[in-house]
Amino acid sequence: MTDDTLKSAFTRRTLLSGAATVGAAGLVSSFPRPAIAQGAPYKVGLMLPYTGTFAKLGQFIDQGMRLYVEQKGGKLGGRNVTFVQIDDESKPETATDNMNRLVGREKVDVVVGTVHSGVAMAMVKVARDTNTMLIIPNAGANDATGPQCAPNIFRTSFSNWQPCFPMGKVMADAGHKNVVTITWRYTAGQEMVGAFKEGFTAAGGKVVEELALPFPEVEFQALITRIATLKPDAVFSFFAGGGAVKFVKDYAAAGLNKTIPLYGAGFLTDGTLEAQGAAADGIKTTLHYADDLDNPANRAFLAAFKQKTNQDGDIYAVQGYDAGALLDIGLGGVSGDAAARDKMIAAMAAAKIDSPRGPMSFNKAHNPVQNIYLREVRNGKNAYVSVAQANVDDPARGCRMTA
Ligand code: BEZ
Repeated sequence: MTDDTLKSAFTRRTLLSGAATVGAAGLVSSFPRPAIAQGAPYKVGLMLPYTGTFAKLGQFIDQGMRLYVEQKGGKLGGRNVTFVQIDDESKPETATDNMNRLVGREKVDVVVGTVHSGVAMAMVKVARDTNTMLIIPNAGANDATGPQCAPNIFRTSFSNWQPCFPMGKVMADAGHKNVVTITWRYTAGQEMVGAFKEGFTAAGGKVVEELALPFPEVEFQALITRIATLKPDAVFSFFAGGGAVKFVKDYAAAGLNKTIPLYGAGFLTDGTLEAQGAAADGIKTTLHYADDLDNPANRAFLAAFKQKTNQDGDIYAVQGYDAGALLDIGLGGVSGDAAARDKMIAAMAAAKIDSPRGPMSFNKAHNPVQNIYLREVRNGKNAYVSVAQANVDDPARGCRMTA
């Protein structure tokens, strides 16, 4: 198969959107060989959003992962790596077909994806049905490392529960008693609000109203008017990417940033601050990263990412970078022989990664155990305030790992 054959395997829209964002050279960088044969390149399928409201998130995951591989001389675990990429557009309805293309037609050794929780759950199903290695570098769907956990599925990001549960105590400790929540009505929004509510009510707070709009809509005006009418002590929110930029600007344009403090899961202000400008000043969020985390891994990562892309790294780039690190450890544990699957999985499950986010290990469900930081937007950065909760381990409710 040549690059041309690959092109016909994808919809024109998918192909063009992927090529437009990361360059045609990124589509396929080798000719096919038996995918898992020793000596052949290890084939990584990147299934990410390269267009739509989460486009920048997908691009940064892609660039973070490629940066890691470049730093290892184009290899993981000593084995040459080749990439094939597909734009999932954050559309759950085409997710199964896209995943099947990577697994069936492209015969990738691993899929790294994706950003959107609904798309990720369709990928999890295919990965379980076909026993394909899957590394989730963002999407937080709790079920992926809950009831749907599996030996071949890892996550280098977070569960939706993880960054939001600690925010409950943070906001209660700040003296807020009555809070309104606002998000998109889909898996990630519902689970993040649910986790915040769990932490907030346990700390004595009350969620007085839960507001939501369909993903990826950005007509926030009616909901912002409702917040002004309710006059809560504070607002907790989950939005990300282009939607987060618009929400933060609309909230400030309505003047609410002066009267009702806005909090959120860190995605509200990660990778978005340049576009949000002064509207984001003072917003407090919780996440497994802060721009100015003062550790050697973060300093080195930010410098290298800047040099490669001329952009400031963010959590999405870190998660892609760490997906590379995890695969490096897995393949290194089997001297590049991905066919030694059980041994490779055991090496990955035992991995302790010195991540730019701080120390990262994995729980029995293959979800990261990691610090959750409180950050505040200052001078265009998500500045570290404190560790909101150390070594946060998702409860992995419903996970029965079979091996
Ligand atoms: C999600 O759908 O899981 C998600 C999307 C963007 C940021 C964080 C989570």
